[in-house]
Amino acid sequence: MKGSLIMQIIVADNYDSMSKRAANIIASQITLKPDSVLGLATGATPTGTYQELVRIYQEGRISFNDVVTFNLDEYYGLERVNEQSYWYYMYQHLFQHVDIKMENVYIPNGRAADVEAECRDYEEKISTRGGIDLQLLGIGRNGHIGFNEPDIQFEALTHLVKLDNETIEANSRFFSSIDEVPREAISMGIKTIMKSKKILLLASGEEKAKTVYRMLNHKITPELPASILQLHQAVTVILDKAAAALLVAATYKKL
Ligand code: F6R
Repeated sequence: MKGSLIMQIIVADNYDSMSKRAANIIASQITLKPDSVLGLATGATPTGTYQELVRIYQEGRISFNDVVTFNLDEYYGLERVNEQSYWYYMYQHLFQHVDIKMENVYIPNGRAADVEAECRDYEEKISTRGGIDLQLLGIGRNGHIGFNEPDIQFEALTHLVKLDNETIEANSRFFSSIDEVPREAISMGIKTIMKSKKILLLASGEEKAKTVYRMLNHKITPELPASILQLHQAVTVILDKAAAALLVAATYKKL
């Protein structure tokens, strides 16, 4: 593996075990720092993690009372109440089930009239809240993190992005037709993500295996946005066996 030697890679037996490990890391972050600032992701990958976090909360083991959250991204043009919005997703999967204060929840406003001001404001809020302690990430098949598509500028902060055709196609599984998938999104930039104190990236399924392999072994290049994570000081990657299939045994720690 090139770049960071401090990247911890955990291979879990399956999706459920990956989700439990991820939820335990987040729960431990909240326990050690009850007013943690969490960066959150949406998509298919983290739903099991949120389900497990809700379970841990329901058992009375953690509280979200002082937790602050910032989501990675939001589709541009969708209202919060749209069932495909990431606001709706977060409410359905996590926020409605726990004791988080909604004034501590931040998701880019996909209906902002002044997008540039919205992006600047988002960055300012992250700073005002003390920066992100732990950022949860999924990874796109094209190597995107957040909606930072291939060839993005590494130095970008929160900004309006044009979604790749591959992303539009991949995400069309959540919509009734591909034509309904928004073509743009507001996303934290790579620089925003890299400023997080810790990063937790999850990947599941064989369709991610090649991308995961490239993320860890490819040269660091905007063509593969996730490759930048090789340079972050504190990254944990949790994979299920299928997503880890192309990694050489020696490059990961099997727990
Ligand atoms: C979601 C996000 C994206 C997804 C990625 C993987 O907030 O920013 O980068 O993490 O597209 O999506 P899934 O998990 O659906 O495969």
